[in-house]
Amino acid sequence: MEHEVRRLLDAEAAATGRRRKALIETYGCQQNGADSDRMRGQLVAMGFDLAGAREDADLILFNTCAVREHAEQKLLGNLGALRHLKARRPGLVIAVTGCMMQQPHRVEEITKKYRHVDIVLGTNTFFKLPEAVHRAMTEGGRTAEIDGGSPDIPEDIPVARESGIRAWVTAMYGCNNFCSYCVVPYTRGRERSRPPEYIEEEVRGLVKAGYKDITLLGQNVNSYGWGFPKLLALLDAIEGDYLIRFMTSHPKDATPGLFEAMAASKHVARQLHLPVQSGSDAVLAAMNRRYTAEHYLGLAQKARELIPDLTLTSDIIVGFPGESEADFEATLDLIRTVRFDSLFTFAYSARRGTRAADMEGQIPAEVKKSRLIALMKTQQVISAEKNAALLGCVQRVLVMGRKGFLEGRTEGGKPCYFEGDDALIGSFVPVKITIAKSFVLYGELQ
Ligand code: 5AD
Ligand code: SF4
Repeated sequence: MEHEVRRLLDAEAAATGRRRKALIETYGCQQNGADSDRMRGQLVAMGFDLAGAREDADLILFNTCAVREHAEQKLLGNLGALRHLKARRPGLVIAVTGCMMQQPHRVEEITKKYRHVDIVLGTNTFFKLPEAVHRAMTEGGRTAEIDGGSPDIPEDIPVARESGIRAWVTAMYGCNNFCSYCVVPYTRGRERSRPPEYIEEEVRGLVKAGYKDITLLGQNVNSYGWGFPKLLALLDAIEGDYLIRFMTSHPKDATPGLFEAMAASKHVARQLHLPVQSGSDAVLAAMNRRYTAEHYLGLAQKARELIPDLTLTSDIIVGFPGESEADFEATLDLIRTVRFDSLFTFAYSARRGTRAADMEGQIPAEVKKSRLIALMKTQQVISAEKNAALLGCVQRVLVMGRKGFLEGRTEGGKPCYFEGDDALIGSFVPVKITIAKSFVLYGELQ
């Protein structure tokens, strides 16, 4: 179907001298980013140019996130704002995809109240974009195609990435964990692992094309069907100058075998994102996380023992239903003990259909907010101290681009700024750290 749209667009461009343009706006996590790369690939294969702004676009696609209420409200606001664009330009095609569209109440809302939306696709049907675009362009027809199951996603979808340096590679789709707060198992279905040979082929191709920073994606990469440490070893054997990262790991499945594979590898970044979510055993149990704070502390210790220069980061949710002051204190204690390099902190957001949404003891918004601030303040001091320990050290930094200074990332994933030539963009360089803040480093090229 890509080819049929391409024929239409080629003929139109020949007649009008102008080629239609498409814009994708991605919300949420890296998996959405990876899906957007494939939808962008399909749009390019269909003959669209890429637009830089909504006003220039003939097709606008929002790839949505459902993980927190805030993301959903923002999306609905942005979608509402497209109404007047469509009124001015009736030929504009509007598509909405991603996790929000896996929720029946949202699909109903969009199809009934957002009549200017032409295409609705889910996380397991996004690759049907060419058919839907063809229908919208030829019949003005609307498409809503959501698959509640967990089908295999085709391997032959073209990919158009935004960066030539950093790439996401899906290792597995879906999640089986059903943490009680989380909507992901409902929006992305059950776990499905891509066979290692496909992943190897994709990574090999990326390394050959000059990509330097490759992140393997999965909601819980440690339950990868063919063994995650084995996958890391397989990819590590690919020749070249590049880094492999991965996310996310679940503490119940992270093993010393994983840390050993990281330690033994040449290309796997010494960086681990290991979400703990809470430091209270009662809250962890109610979250259905299936580990204790003590188990987590043991893991963190083991990881640092095996990988001494490890950068360790985590996710925390505050204000989970029933979280008492003492539970929250236990979280602060845990982060003071572990001393993460940085944290992603979230206020609990009730998600329809999840178990926690119906739990007693929902926490008032202002309590969540004050806990979030206290948590961020505590972590900010720790992050600043961790970064200060890098002062005077030489870090291997991958140069990503320019924002005034050259902008790069250390192997641990920390942003680092320094003076240098544009020719360095896309390469690894040694940088001596001269200024360390909580969230960024500054340095001098060596
Ligand atoms: N409310 C707040 N934070 C959430 N997360 C997932 N679901 C929710 C929710 N309902 C956070 C978790 C997860 C990260 C990606 O988002 O910390 O690790
Ligand atoms: Fe959500 Fe838990 Fe699965 Fe992560 S492991 S996606 S938090 S259910």
